[in-house]
Amino acid sequence: MSYPTDVSRRHFLTYSTLGLLTAVGLPTRTWSGQILPTNQANPNFKPDVEIDLYAQEGTVSILPGAVTRMMQYSAILKTGPHNTLVHLPNSYLGPIIQLQKGQKVRIYFKNKLSEPSIVHWHGLHVPADMDGHPMRAINQGEVYVYEFEVLNRAGFHIYHPHPHEYLGRELYFGLAGGLLVSDQEEKKLGLPSGEYEIPIVIQDRRFDAHNQLVYGTTPHDRMLGTHGDHILINGRPHYELEVASRAYRLRIMNGSNARIYKLAWNDGTPMTVLGVDGGLLEKPETRPYLMLAPGERLDVWADFTGRTKGTELVMRSLSFRGALPKMAEEQMGRGERHGMGRRGMMMGGMGMMMGGGMALPIGSDYPLFTIRVTRETRDSPNLPAYLSRFRRYTINEAANRDNPIPIGISEGFMTMQLNGRPYAYHDVQPYERVPVNTIQVLDIFHAHNMGGGHGVNAGNTGMGSSMSSGMGMMGGMSGGGMMFSMAHPIHLHGQQFEIISRTVDSGETDGYATVKEGLVDSGLKDTVLIMPGEKVRILKPFDDFKGLFMYHCHNIEHEDMGMMREFMVM
Ligand code: C2O
Ligand code: CU
Ligand code: CU
Repeated sequence: MSYPTDVSRRHFLTYSTLGLLTAVGLPTRTWSGQILPTNQANPNFKPDVEIDLYAQEGTVSILPGAVTRMMQYSAILKTGPHNTLVHLPNSYLGPIIQLQKGQKVRIYFKNKLSEPSIVHWHGLHVPADMDGHPMRAINQGEVYVYEFEVLNRAGFHIYHPHPHEYLGRELYFGLAGGLLVSDQEEKKLGLPSGEYEIPIVIQDRRFDAHNQLVYGTTPHDRMLGTHGDHILINGRPHYELEVASRAYRLRIMNGSNARIYKLAWNDGTPMTVLGVDGGLLEKPETRPYLMLAPGERLDVWADFTGRTKGTELVMRSLSFRGALPKMAEEQMGRGERHGMGRRGMMMGGMGMMMGGGMALPIGSDYPLFTIRVTRETRDSPNLPAYLSRFRRYTINEAANRDNPIPIGISEGFMTMQLNGRPYAYHDVQPYERVPVNTIQVLDIFHAHNMGGGHGVNAGNTGMGSSMSSGMGMMGGMSGGGMMFSMAHPIHLHGQQFEIISRTVDSGETDGYATVKEGLVDSGLKDTVLIMPGEKVRILKPFDDFKGLFMYHCHNIEHEDMGMMREFMVM
């Protein structure tokens, strides 16, 4: 219980990045958010759990030497089971909020930051006004009251800020926490629990010489997302876990702004996955490695049975390709350098700007954390053969069976959008209006490939001229549109979806081969990694709640840049 409470009120944030970025030709910030009045507790809502949640500035000791100024969530349990809040030792992360399916939850969120914020419960199926929409952001000193019933099945979710254009910075400066839902189906399985169930929140950060966080200082930080050169697990560097020689359940979350990981054990032991974003799979699966993009979660069975005391095991991120535009990968010295000459000066310069100087190159091979066996035991549970049953969707149930909703990833130099449109409040397009209580089919694809043989019927999507002109501009700039193609974790708020197909352009299969065995598509997802040249078809229910629900890239700098849109469920 050494959760840091040392709160300094210094206003440590500077906005100098904005000036710098404008100087290199970034779009200026034009969104004028409408802030709605904050809500009140409903006297007729009888909560099983009541929590006060604060966002505030504070300091944490992370690296040796000076403390690091951060933003932090902290919480106090007012009503509910005593184990509802689990504080992570010496961490800037908010406490893990443990909920049970069916519980009624009221959370008083008080913003003590000197800037607007609002909390989103990533993965939870809650009403639109409980979902942390940017227009609900509250100012310093204000309170937002959340009330919802936990409708989700068991799963590991995230709470994080969602104010427009500040999300990246607030997340990077420390505002995030885990939200663990359990249910009866899961409890019956007897999976490792208590001290044998461990949260693993993976983040990366960059520090200056005074141990202060460095955020968004280069065009690279904005265009490719902000990547750090220190890996932090549960908020700590050089993370080590002491274990007994038995099975553990690792609840892994990628809480990084932009970094994608390829998780594997250093001794070649395969990874056994129990679940993904939306909860347990039907049965365990074994993979040589597992991909984990920002916003995604993995439920991993880690069995140290038979390992002798003193054994050390390292979870690494293995090398892979496709996370970054090709020129940036080349610049980092891992790709085919000979391509630079042919591509010419302009691309070389841009590659340098985008990929140059990265201390922990994206897609390289590096350690994440260490497991040390310190106790031998024989009391390990067995891996269940079957885990869960959940509702499967079929394309025939989709209300728009022959007319998929397009999510076109529009990527260009310093432009990251969806369907050629930036995020804007009250800009819902015809194809973004979804009837409530329907199942919809959606196609997520790289928009510059449209008309290039993907079979997406643009004619029936209701997309207007802005989409085609947006893509025309990119095509013109990029000479075919592939130049800026990179990986994007696309997240949809609300209920989890099912992935029904993936297709990859023939030109991108090499990079794809380095990640494909680690994509677990058999469970329910709320975030899906889309690799360059890839098209992914999903089926998603839009049940129970009307209103605005966001969908966006979970590379948070892309999201802040405008790679976000919203559905109006009606
Ligand atoms: Cu974790 Cu709108 O996202
Ligand atoms: Cu979300
Ligand atoms: Cu993106």
